[in-house]
Amino acid sequence: LQQFLFQNPNEPPVVFHWFPVIGSTITYGMDPPRFFDENRKKFGDCFTFILLGKKTTVYVGPQGNDFILNGKIRDVSAEEIYTVLTTPVFGKDVVYDCPNSKLMEQKKFMKIALTTDAFRQYVPIISDEVNNYYKANPDFKGASGIVDMPPKMAQITIFTASHALQGSEIRNKFDASLAELYHHLDMGFSPINFMLHWAPCPGTTAATTPSAPSPRSTWTPSSRAAPAYKGGIPVPDHEIAHMMIALLMAGQHSSSSTSSWIMLRLASRPDIMEDLYNEQVAALGADLPPLSYEDLAKLPLNQAIVKETLRLHAPIHSIMRAVKQPMPVPGTKFVIPTSHVLLAAPGVSAADPQFFPNPEVWDPHRWSPDSPNAPTMVRNEEDDEKIDYGYGLVSKGAGSPYLPFGAGRHRCIGEQFANVQLQTIVANTVRWFKFRNVDGSDKVIGTDYASLFSRPLEPAKIYWERRAGAA
Ligand code: HEM
Repeated sequence: LQQFLFQNPNEPPVVFHWFPVIGSTITYGMDPPRFFDENRKKFGDCFTFILLGKKTTVYVGPQGNDFILNGKIRDVSAEEIYTVLTTPVFGKDVVYDCPNSKLMEQKKFMKIALTTDAFRQYVPIISDEVNNYYKANPDFKGASGIVDMPPKMAQITIFTASHALQGSEIRNKFDASLAELYHHLDMGFSPINFMLHWAPCPGTTAATTPSAPSPRSTWTPSSRAAPAYKGGIPVPDHEIAHMMIALLMAGQHSSSSTSSWIMLRLASRPDIMEDLYNEQVAALGADLPPLSYEDLAKLPLNQAIVKETLRLHAPIHSIMRAVKQPMPVPGTKFVIPTSHVLLAAPGVSAADPQFFPNPEVWDPHRWSPDSPNAPTMVRNEEDDEKIDYGYGLVSKGAGSPYLPFGAGRHRCIGEQFANVQLQTIVANTVRWFKFRNVDGSDKVIGTDYASLFSRPLEPAKIYWERRAGAA
């Protein structure tokens, strides 16, 4: 009753909670999509809940996505939220440890590694990594077996990304010295770092750099011509090194989680794995030559596998922004005060029956236009009006219900790389194996939301059988 009486009519409704600091932290943390769904049914698209003592305003649906992700730089800030989390991992003076205008220039630099010409070189590199992995890994020896897939996919992701994005020198160190350093860096992403700085507990401080020796100094890519910021200001070596770390680490968890989900989904639908194999035979020939970048465009189902998996398993379920000045919500009487944090969850509209018929069904075929489950109202991004924040053109509006790579000035720069990487991993994997669930069912394992990036609960074992003729 007290919460009801003190409800400010100019602010979104507050989710009921018993304890002031804990608020809804536990119900949110256990299953964010369910939490969003249940409260959306009660309150509509815009509501507030207490996350570790902080008033957190969720705004879901295409309008909410646009309101938050396209927020003006004077209204919203990503760096204020994320810096405690990313600076220990990426290092100083890059990404969120610098003004936004600098990040926009750094995104442009990082995109140097993400051109079509670069992707053309990456596909054979990624294919070789995948094939060598399956050839050499003891868990894939013999004619069939059972394997816990997520750890395998984590390795394949880091080997393929490091080899493509950083070159063989760095990649080869992952077999030995770098693996441990990488693990230490990765620990910096621990949600505890994020939560502790925020939680109003006595005696806590902001996250600090993990105690591991820093590999950054060894990564300075002296062989590359140094880029310059606007006005000809040179980029210091440490910033180049930190950008290279960011380029590798920013996508690692998302790509690894997505590739795991793809394999688990394929194990639950062996018929679709067969469709994928047959698609390659039909498009590329029965002898299945080594894949090229151009081949990927000939495999629409292979592309749709990635798209559909990201629809249901977007690894970044909550995108947050600090509020810099009071923000009126168009079409409502609400004004979001600066004491709130904004939370966008594009995964909610991606699972909304209004846009995706039978949304709970993982149906890669829905992305072909004649499918009964074909999405409605998902705009073709190519037709959108574009804006340049300093790192190339992005869609001006963020009103699409399908935004697994975010939108606006913070939009992912790794989307195309992730697509190339994931499609190449999938296409090669279906040449090697037939998968199914260990119990032969079509069940899919639940989601682990304990980390900041959602991923399959582990162990997530599948049964594999080597395809006749696979090396
Ligand atoms: C930002 C998703 C892979 C680099 C983002 C954002 C999302 C996202 C949702 C926006 C975050 C926000 O607005 O706060 C994904 C998914 C991936 C993936 C689902 C794979 C399936 C990658 C890869 C790279 C990368 C492979 C690098 C090669 C970045 C960077 C940003 C970003 C640098 C920060 C942009 C900024 O704040 O301005 N990603 N990403 N991502 N992503 Fe990705």
